[in-house]
Amino acid sequence: MTGKSRIAAITGGASGIGLAFARRWIESGGKAVLLDMHSAALRSAVEALGPTARGFEIDVTDRSSVDGAFRSIQTNEGSLDVLVNCAGIADPGPSHEVSDESFSRMLDIHVTGSMRCARAAYPLLINSDAASIVNLGSVATYTGMPQRASYTAAKAGIGGLTRTLAAEWAQVGIRVNAVGPGYVRTALTDSLVAEGKLRDEPIKARTPLGRFAEPDEIADAIHFLAGCTSTYITGHMLMADGGMSIDGSWY
Ligand SMILES: NC(=O)c1ccc[n+]([C@@H]2O[C@H](COP(=O)([O-])OP(=O)(O)OC[C@H]3O[C@@H](n4cnc5c(N)ncnc54)[C@H](O)[C@@H]3O)[C@@H](O)[C@H]2O)c1
Repeated sequence: MTGKSRIAAITGGASGIGLAFARRWIESGGKAVLLDMHSAALRSAVEALGPTARGFEIDVTDRSSVDGAFRSIQTNEGSLDVLVNCAGIADPGPSHEVSDESFSRMLDIHVTGSMRCARAAYPLLINSDAASIVNLGSVATYTGMPQRASYTAAKAGIGGLTRTLAAEWAQVGIRVNAVGPGYVRTALTDSLVAEGKLRDEPIKARTPLGRFAEPDEIADAIHFLAGCTSTYITGHMLMADGGMSIDGSWY
């Protein structure tokens, strides 16, 4: 039943967690519209996913691009049931050196981008009988992480945005939740490791389950919140972090 013939739009759907969710959604009978700015990755993702996937190039920081994407869903698919806001970047660095531009860009992609997409999706979602938005939080929603000022501010913002949209849009039948991953093996973390800005070992040591997550494991958590087995859950951030945020064994 979950996901059957239902349409999901996934920002950042050409890679990592978004792509894993698209695969999971299609496997359970749904159709996926991948929205991403990386055109080559978008093409190969759609090709790999097959005929129940469609791609549309989008920059979530550009209102006309976002509005155009949801107009295209109205024209092509004719309806929308689920929006997953997965577009994201990481840009760590010392807080006393961070530029206004890089700080603002982080907020623009994660927080304003999720808001722009939710707003553009709203007229479609209110016509669905099972509308759901899932945003991407993080352990960074709740913790202070040195050299991640813009990322932690953005992810804390995702928590506020999720709760407010959930409270406001419940009356029109749109549930709004978030998933908060710990560290996941994707292009985002791989590039940080390659640049020497992230080290595997302290993360594994600080994670009770002792490892990074695979994108499919986060996709399962998103799928639960997006689907028809979580119909009384809204405004919640489901931590999928291997126990990182609840661990008290440091003493
Ligand atoms: N990987 C992790 O460890 C981790 C942990 C916690 C939260 N998250 C969050 O999960 C989400 C997905 O991350 P991921 O690890 O799958 O990353 P990823 O790099 O594999 O995928 C992110 C996608 O977003 C797209 N994107 C970036 N900026 C965009 C823009 N302006 N417009 C449209 N598309 C854009 C990229 O092209 C890419 O395809 C992000 O919000 C990230 O912050 C990731």
